[in-house]
Amino acid sequence: MRIKVAPSILSADFSCLGAQVKKVQAAGADLLHVDVMDGHFVPNITIGPVVVKYLRKVTKLKLDVHLMIQQPAKFIQPFIDAGSDMITVHVEVISLKEIASISRMLKKMGIKFGVSLNPGTPFEKIKPALKFADFVLVMSVNPGFGGQSFIPSVLPKIRQIREVFKKDIAIDGGINAVTAKLAKLAGANILVAGSYIFGAKNIKQAIKALR
Ligand code: DX5
Ligand code: ZN
Repeated sequence: MRIKVAPSILSADFSCLGAQVKKVQAAGADLLHVDVMDGHFVPNITIGPVVVKYLRKVTKLKLDVHLMIQQPAKFIQPFIDAGSDMITVHVEVISLKEIASISRMLKKMGIKFGVSLNPGTPFEKIKPALKFADFVLVMSVNPGFGGQSFIPSVLPKIRQIREVFKKDIAIDGGINAVTAKLAKLAGANILVAGSYIFGAKNIKQAIKALR
């Protein structure tokens, strides 16, 4: 499968976000990963739909919106209206019934639907959701902050998912050139990386190294 690289803007300089996005786009990014946090599901607060709306104006990259929020169903519509191309919800906070209905809704609108699970959440929890998902986002750190270390015990879980799921598998958290290799070997094909990309002297080189 083609490897896609998704820079996470969580590690960008928000005082010049537009310029930072143009920089990763020019350096060969495939998607733009947008981390939405509510201070409930995770111990941090980040951004809402208004930022997605303005990102939409400055980039042609697909906007991959990762909802780390307690009530995702309630906020899907504003993120659709803002111009999201991909929306991910966490299986820890949503029922299978809601997953099925969000999946139908996004399909109609041509938006890709992702389901995500935390490092401590077992494969069994996401298994019934796989048939509704266009992609899976495996968290390799406990969500909330950029710059944490990769948790290698998620690798067997990626293999388990890959055995039954033929579409895209993304990995998110602590990704650098070394951990990207492990994730790819386990079956991931979308690499989300924040601090490794935005902290690099040469962003183009960093994206190439991940691939
Ligand atoms: C973590 C976020 C990640 C984060 C990754 O809660 O979901 O997308 O930005 O940052 P790094 O690559 O620095 O671990
Ligand atoms: Zn993320």
